[in-house]
Amino acid sequence: MFETLTSRPDDPIMAIMELCKADANPKKIDLGPGVYKDATGSTTILKAVKLAEELWNREELTKTYVGTVGNQDFCRLMLDLVLGAQHPAITEGRIGAAQSTGGSGALRLGAELLKASLPDATVWASTPTWANHIPLITEAGLKMDSYPYYNRETLGVDFDDMITHLGTQAKRGDIVLLHGCCHNPTGADLSHAQWDRLAIFLAEKGLNPFIDLAYFGLGRGMADDTYGTLKVIEHCPEVLIAMSCSKNFALYRERTGLIAAVTKTPEAAKITRSQFGAIQRKIVSMPPDHGAALVVRILGDDVLREMWVNELESMRDRMRGLRTLLSEALNVQGGEAISAAIKDQNGMFSTLPLTKEQAQKLRTEHAVYLLDSGRINIAGANASNIPRLAESILAVL
Ligand code: LMR
Repeated sequence: MFETLTSRPDDPIMAIMELCKADANPKKIDLGPGVYKDATGSTTILKAVKLAEELWNREELTKTYVGTVGNQDFCRLMLDLVLGAQHPAITEGRIGAAQSTGGSGALRLGAELLKASLPDATVWASTPTWANHIPLITEAGLKMDSYPYYNRETLGVDFDDMITHLGTQAKRGDIVLLHGCCHNPTGADLSHAQWDRLAIFLAEKGLNPFIDLAYFGLGRGMADDTYGTLKVIEHCPEVLIAMSCSKNFALYRERTGLIAAVTKTPEAAKITRSQFGAIQRKIVSMPPDHGAALVVRILGDDVLREMWVNELESMRDRMRGLRTLLSEALNVQGGEAISAAIKDQNGMFSTLPLTKEQAQKLRTEHAVYLLDSGRINIAGANASNIPRLAESILAVL
């Protein structure tokens, strides 16, 4: 039955995680997968999550099925968090949402919905984008193409090129995949003024936004991190949003996320929700309960919510502090451009202008584990190894 099969290449992000695990060097620096680490290098469970779990363990009454659209209290609380409870799309009932198995599950549900409604549309993704966007979307049967985004020389966003490219290449009805904040893999986000322009551009061109909001709260704060999403919804009548609780609630392995369709009418919202349920049923039947149940507990309880907000802020502050330290350490001859970019960029990631060989050299000769693309996860560093990290980067440049 299996004779015709051959092994498939390892996922590049997971492969770096395994390589790093296997290295016994106590000085290794793990800048691989997008997982937050504290100053000791641990990915601990948030205190708010632990407390929610204790309460939940006492209160949980059943393990019966949660339903194909998952926990709708979770969806409502997450949408209130991101858009604000008084947002017209919420008060007018113009959002159809389903809980998903993590952010990846949300992206897949969104892609399957698009395949059903716009089978001939192309999904345009930034260059570069999160590697897993491509299989998640193309395996749903949609075509993908790319628009210019990150300039590996200036280490900033090529916004004018992005707009010109989409304006000339994308056709009305196509989908533009956007990173709501903390762009993965570059950390280079659009400014508020650019989001303002982009939102109007998308609406005028009839392009449909699909926003991946996997890292909100970890960039510059909740208001800043959701600015682009809100701006796009203000101008575009229909928007898809994929959210994840992996990073901001540190619920990685609980696979907690949601897909939301902002629609023109409440009737359309109901239809999209029923579509999400039917799609989910044929892929995983329904999402797992635990992570979403914890988020409901946290967001629905003033004390736990405040605890979580503070923990989120401390993760964010730690990463900003590390960015400042690394930026200062790299601010020497030859490192100035990287130094400036690292300081400006947001969230966990930055993409260093390294060749694959330079990235490999960092791993083999300096025990610095980053992706071949040059992507680093700043949270994997700490104040004491930043000088060695900066020296290693400068040594391979
Ligand atoms: C990453 O980009 O490293 C994370 O989102 C983890 C993953 O699943 O790839």
